[in-house]
Amino acid sequence: MSPRAIILDCDPGQDDAVAILLALASPEELELIAITTVAGNVPLVRTSANARRVVDFAGGDVPVYAGAAKPLLRPLATAEHVHGATGLDGSELPPPRRPLAPGHASRAIVDLVRARPPKSVTLVATGPLTNVALALALAPDLGERLEAIVLMGGAIGLGNVTPAAEFNMFVDPHAAAMVFTAGVPIVMFPLDVTWQVRVTAERLARIAAIGTPLARAVAGMLAFYRGRGTREDAPRGALHDPCTIAWLVEPRLFSGRPCAVEVETASPTALGRTLVDWFGVTDRPPNATVMREADADGFFALLEKRLARLGGG
Ligand code: RIB
Ligand code: CA
Repeated sequence: MSPRAIILDCDPGQDDAVAILLALASPEELELIAITTVAGNVPLVRTSANARRVVDFAGGDVPVYAGAAKPLLRPLATAEHVHGATGLDGSELPPPRRPLAPGHASRAIVDLVRARPPKSVTLVATGPLTNVALALALAPDLGERLEAIVLMGGAIGLGNVTPAAEFNMFVDPHAAAMVFTAGVPIVMFPLDVTWQVRVTAERLARIAAIGTPLARAVAGMLAFYRGRGTREDAPRGALHDPCTIAWLVEPRLFSGRPCAVEVETASPTALGRTLVDWFGVTDRPPNATVMREADADGFFALLEKRLARLGGG
């Protein structure tokens, strides 16, 4: 089978960075045709620099397009308390060598998808959905042309930025609502499944033991990342974003079911909440496949194997 063409819209962020690397290390399954960046974990100038730092260090050759510097309507909320001031603290990656690709990320998403046969490009989104919503608004045909949108975000249960909301959905709930009502096939990785995929000390040691410059950089960034967290019993070191890529490479690692999903855009206490109708108690038709179970050991076995392919440096 020829590799699946993907565009990765992200806000690096250590976990986004691992998603980029896993995609670059999986050319049999994935053709990463572009990376687009959005403000989220850290401001756009940093997420755009971080994406290029990761691609450069891995020796990749993927264009990086910068997108939205703020959400559609809300003020930007960032997460330096989790990812550090640079967004990639702990990695020690050198500054980017490559320039940004010209043009806005949303324009690039539309043009790249239109340049390929219908249903041949999958859009992976691991940050706030601002660029994705803008692209859908820019090109009403985008929805039919995309194979699917595979996204990390939302929660069936508890949120991580408020009791109700997960960070990506909270930062831009209006964009998220546009995406979930666009009629595009969606595969959703909420916190309930990504919190199962955590970097433990043992898993970190195995990544470091790969011994390449790139594996050492990944171990450094994940050592920083897993040390951050809010409450003692809050899940730490979850590799949220690479779950999307791992599923594209090895679908059996995850399981879920079609659900109706709605995004709260008005409530001051539950803004960004994803209401996932897991038991089908409403008459709303499913608009997403929601993943809820993960094979975490299988995920890390895949990640270690693929990271070992990337020398880096
Ligand atoms: O809530 C976790 C998500 O928010 C991840 O994508 C992380 O990188 C941040 O963007
Ligand atoms: Ca992210």
